[in-house]
Amino acid sequence: MTDPHETLADLQRRAELGGGEARQKRQHDAGKLTVRERIELLFDPGTFEEVDKLVTHRCRDFGMETQIVPGDGVVAGHGLIEGRQVFAFAQDFTVFGGSLSETNAAKIVKIMDLAMKLGAPIVGLNDSGGARIQEGVLSLGGYADIFLRNTLASGVVPQISAIMGPCAGGAVYSPAITDFTIMVKDTSYMFVTGPDVLKTVTHEEVSKDELGGAMTHNATSGVAHFAVDDDRECLALIRDLLSFMPGNNLDDPPRAPMSDSPDREDVALDTIVPASPNQPYDMLDVIHTVVDEAYFLEVHHHYAKNILVGFARLDGRPVGVVANQPAVLAGTLDIDASVKGARFVRFCDAFNIPLVTFEDVPGFLPGTVQEYGGIIRHGAKLLFAFAEATVPKVTIITRKAYGGAYCVMSSKHIRTDFNYAWPTAEIAVMGPEGAVNILYKRELDSATDRAAARSERVEEFRKKFANPYIAAGRGFIDEIIYPRETRRKLIAALKNLDNKRDKNPPKKHGNIPL
Ligand code: HXC
Repeated sequence: MTDPHETLADLQRRAELGGGEARQKRQHDAGKLTVRERIELLFDPGTFEEVDKLVTHRCRDFGMETQIVPGDGVVAGHGLIEGRQVFAFAQDFTVFGGSLSETNAAKIVKIMDLAMKLGAPIVGLNDSGGARIQEGVLSLGGYADIFLRNTLASGVVPQISAIMGPCAGGAVYSPAITDFTIMVKDTSYMFVTGPDVLKTVTHEEVSKDELGGAMTHNATSGVAHFAVDDDRECLALIRDLLSFMPGNNLDDPPRAPMSDSPDREDVALDTIVPASPNQPYDMLDVIHTVVDEAYFLEVHHHYAKNILVGFARLDGRPVGVVANQPAVLAGTLDIDASVKGARFVRFCDAFNIPLVTFEDVPGFLPGTVQEYGGIIRHGAKLLFAFAEATVPKVTIITRKAYGGAYCVMSSKHIRTDFNYAWPTAEIAVMGPEGAVNILYKRELDSATDRAAARSERVEEFRKKFANPYIAAGRGFIDEIIYPRETRRKLIAALKNLDNKRDKNPPKKHGNIPL
């Protein structure tokens, strides 16, 4: 129990001390900041207002009645980030390992509810041993209360999870429901079942880092979107990420002052696409050349590198960029790329962030691995996401737009507002080689010089279809532009689309192929 004679100042000091100096030192020795150092770095200086600093747990079992720390292991409140209101909770590993109790769950729920009412983003700094063991079902219930809020807040206010220590068991499902997950290398991990249980049950031996470290979830599972070197980089990244988003789904993203000229042209773009259609180039070079100050905040950098997604600005307007990457797997769409792209498109659509698509895609990745893995269902996610998106959409075809992938990658047919193509664009049902093999199979089988006959047919097909003119003749491409004009054209298109209003038919919700 709290001593009734303890003064407010004493109580506040105890709250700020958390689990005590020795445990705070252990936190520092592990390469982690303390919970209050994290909060200080996250918010604009002096703006954080804490709530429920004096809340204590109610557990009377296992000797807990003598172990009372005001605040109960989580710091919750709100403050300003770049002058805009943001709500946050940060688990304090020095207090019962940051474990979630009935009362600290209630603190988290309280600020989530407030954030929803006020239309402000929610940031969670996770560093916890999970459900507080002494509290049993009360802490499990606390998690479920948070999961419900995460779900209800999805698409209403942006939610960002930073994993800055352990995050295990069912606790991982809160970050999983949020929009972006950032993991700190070496000090954070996420798994449903830890290495010790794994060893007992499946006899698998694996370290914590291999099983659920930052790179595992960034490069292999795709559960996390960013991997950072330390706490400071993590908190700076959250601030940067939020600068591209509105506070809620009814607001527009904040426009930044911009010194980069909207009319800037770069002739290097005119020669960026190699003469040979099968030679790769780096789509990142295209993105960097076009966007404001060459700044592209790439999301999911380590995962499904055959598609690029991330945030940039064009004349100060935040945009979500989705781009095929011809330098990886020739830019084909596979299961991971489709899921990565779809999730990003849906985030942008939920929060009024226009979509800019750079397209160079030879099609979906063929093969049994992909077919057995459900490329049909997963590829359909990206198609669904682009088709249902009502935000301003602009597409630039730089080279290949083949087959189903032509339709999927924000084509005119699925409500894209402006579709441009570079003169190097090739729009066809499939590439010339594959097409000739099917169309002229018998002719080639009986040809005396098969290779010569084949290359003649390929050339003929290339001349007919490997260009953007048929699509432009039909209005599926609004304009064929010189690559150097891309920045100017995109900025003009987005300006024209500032007042775009589009909507989907009334429904409870769609049924995206999950
Ligand atoms: C209560 C806990 C705790 C917990 C840690 N502590 N986890 N107290 N409930 N879940 C306490 C420890 O007793 C210790 O107290 C302090 O936090 C630091 O823990 P250490 O073990 O000394 O730290 P470390 O060696 O860094 O190991 C961290 C850890 C380990 C890997 C997280 O503590 C651990 O395995 N904890 C249990 C994890 C777990 O199984 N949680 C339940 C998961 S299931 P003192 O007083 O010594 O400082 C779950 C279900 C959620 O969460 C369901 C949602 C639907």
